[in-house]
Amino acid sequence: MKIMSPFFVPPTATSVTPTVSLWSMSTLELPVLNQVSEPSAPSNGMKVYVETYGCQMNVNDSEIVLGVLHNQGYASAEHPDDADVILLNTCAIRDNAERKIHERLNHLKHNKRQNRDLVVGVLGCMAERLRTKLLDEKMVDIVVGPDEYRRVPELVETARGGEKAIAVKLSRVETYDDIVPLRTEGISAWVSIMRGCDKFCTFCVVPFTRGRERSRALQSVVDEAKSLWDSGFKEITMLGQNVNSYRDEVSGYDFADLLAATARAVPGIRIRYSTSHPQDMSDKLIDTMAEHDNICKYIHLPVQSGSNRILELMNRTYTVEHYMGRINRIKQVMPDCALSTDIIAGFCTETVDDHQRTLDVMRAARYDGAYMFAYSPRENTKAWKMGDDVPDEVKSRRLAEIIDVQNEIAKEINLGEVGKTHAVLVEGPSKRNAAEWKGRTDTNKLVIFPHIDQRGYVVGDTVHVTINRTTSATLFGELI
Ligand code: SAH
Ligand code: SF4
Ligand code: F3S
Repeated sequence: MKIMSPFFVPPTATSVTPTVSLWSMSTLELPVLNQVSEPSAPSNGMKVYVETYGCQMNVNDSEIVLGVLHNQGYASAEHPDDADVILLNTCAIRDNAERKIHERLNHLKHNKRQNRDLVVGVLGCMAERLRTKLLDEKMVDIVVGPDEYRRVPELVETARGGEKAIAVKLSRVETYDDIVPLRTEGISAWVSIMRGCDKFCTFCVVPFTRGRERSRALQSVVDEAKSLWDSGFKEITMLGQNVNSYRDEVSGYDFADLLAATARAVPGIRIRYSTSHPQDMSDKLIDTMAEHDNICKYIHLPVQSGSNRILELMNRTYTVEHYMGRINRIKQVMPDCALSTDIIAGFCTETVDDHQRTLDVMRAARYDGAYMFAYSPRENTKAWKMGDDVPDEVKSRRLAEIIDVQNEIAKEINLGEVGKTHAVLVEGPSKRNAAEWKGRTDTNKLVIFPHIDQRGYVVGDTVHVTINRTTSATLFGELI
């Protein structure tokens, strides 16, 4: 189960993703339009439609896959019904993420009936986890893991020749840093700075589906940020499973160095990042954030549990005391920094006392937002062998309590925003009412304000808004 809380509808501008469900790196709000783009090579007459599920890394990966396909003459389709190739870029983090894909594949039967040449592919973490098992599904023609996206055109060709195809080798070096992701119009861009994860939390499939950690060279990220700024992007979010274990292997630069170098090279752009691991949240990183105005004062720092016993079973490699030490240091150096977290309810052997400790940490850290999940056992992880002894109804009850506490805290924090004025990066009309526009603060809070034409501001401008009303999820205000 995934519950989204407070203000987590980040700015985004990807248009490759008609269906997105996300976890901690926050949730995607779908862009204005699912844009159709023409191929960058001579057209091969084929149209591709990519649907993205999972986290923002998958969103950026879909842009990479589209970049690869466009270089081979593919155009984007506006709708799956118009496509010659439909690719589902999938997530395997929890059981329900995979169930959704099985249902979607089932629906695509209809498209296959209408177009017998249609190629259906499964990409991403579920492809890597289930491999040939997916090829057993009648609907699926190609299966491609996260490190094999350069081969998508070749695999599509094989499928068009009538044979199923699979490529799921994980790489120690692939970062796709020479591929230009196919981003369409927007003000906010995802930039993957590293891939894979070496942390091996016992509940998590990511180290298996994404392989070992590897980072892009610092200069390639800085260059990408510069070119995004030159082409009109106002904000980037650096992505990785643990961005703070980023390391440029050649120069030895770490994540704080990368942030500082980007902040200096592109002083006008807003820089965000996600996700950071508590073990690697160094003083240097916190100080670097404080030093640069264009590094957003917002940190997603997943705690998972407030019980040291559970943290150890999870192999999270920190204690609650270490975690709270990091939170306190952040608050000391950047008193206005917003914080968010991920929490898992009902991990194996979790007692009422462990659960209470999680609520205690939430009350002590006072998160602006949280992603809260019921534990979902994943085959082949270490925790799988520990069993799943917390009954579903207990998990649900604990999760509901966690959500209640979080909502209460977020409401209180947001009430404190009334009367304050924020610089808001304008994203465009709000979903509910076109007379109102929305944008986001440096601290990643969603702000709704009346749209005043005469002021002449446009998407991508920064306006100043004084907050006059709030909920646990949103701030409302007036332009000044
Ligand atoms: N790399 C990030 C998180 C990646 S997965 C980090 O370590 O912080 C995103 C979130 O999904 C995790 O933080 C965790 O809260 C949740 N999650 C991962 N595996 C899960 C599982 N098996 N059951 C329930 N939630 C899970
Ligand atoms: Fe999964 Fe842990 Fe890696 Fe995050 S740090 S991706 S939770 S193994
Ligand atoms: Fe992301 Fe899901 Fe894979 S959260 S890394 S797409 S398992």
